[in-house]
Amino acid sequence: MENEGVVNRLKTGIHGLDNIIGGGVPIGSQILILGSPGAGKTLISLEMLYHNSRLAIPSTFITTEERREALIYNVKNAFYSFDDYEDRVENKKINIVHKALVDGFKSRENFEKFVADIVNDMDSNKSKLLVIDSISSLRPILSDDRTFTRSITYMTEVFRDNGITAFMTYESDIKRTDDIMKLGLYSTSMFDGIIKLFVNHMEGSSQYSMEISKLRNSTHKLSTVPYQITDSGFDVLSD
Ligand SMILES: Nc1ncnc2c1ncn2[C@@H]1O[C@H](COP(=O)(O)OP(=O)(O)OP(=O)(O)O)[C@@H](O)[C@H]1O
Ligand SMILES: [Mg+2]
Repeated sequence: MENEGVVNRLKTGIHGLDNIIGGGVPIGSQILILGSPGAGKTLISLEMLYHNSRLAIPSTFITTEERREALIYNVKNAFYSFDDYEDRVENKKINIVHKALVDGFKSRENFEKFVADIVNDMDSNKSKLLVIDSISSLRPILSDDRTFTRSITYMTEVFRDNGITAFMTYESDIKRTDDIMKLGLYSTSMFDGIIKLFVNHMEGSSQYSMEISKLRNSTHKLSTVPYQITDSGFDVLSD
């Protein structure tokens, strides 16, 4: 904690969030982005990759959910101000890769190949930063919670060994009071950080809030902060 200053960090580029977490996430961190449907997991991830791309840091976005074209269409519509987003995708500064999860992982080798392929995808544009959207989609194609926990642990270890900073989304209709162990994971110790996104749909509007429930090597506010999704990105109100 005292030597927070010497930890090399990667900015998220979202000012309010970087303020809360001491300037960014420690390089090589494995971060879980947990949130309910529509809370903004995909968009916040895509925004972080955009800002990093502007800092000449290439990245890879693995999508198991929306297809590549749909994702590009959505990000262009949502973040109207980032008008060179598609160019950055086309130039492979942001490498978007869709992986269809149809067959499941019949063996450990199968899953290990899935992870090795991601590392190869990253090598193709010298990515430093990775998003997997989502890891919750892997749970039904792994046989049980134990296998899921072991597989995610294996994956984070490979990413750490390769110096990869990774954000992994997990869709769960989590409430502020819920226990995180409901995720089909025996432990969340494989993650260095956990960012929770909440959305509350009120009449005519949505209220969003974010909580950093853990971030190793950083001091951070434990309180919940509100955010807005605007056409120039996430506005995290960190005062
Ligand atoms: N320009 C915008 N201004 C305000 N809100 C927006 C804008 N664009 C998208 N949104 C909101 O962002 C949210 C969608 O974000 P996103 O797709 O990142 O969520 P998600 O957490 O990934 O959802 P899912 O679980 O369905 O994958 C929606 O609530 C949508 O209303
Ligand atoms: Mg999403």
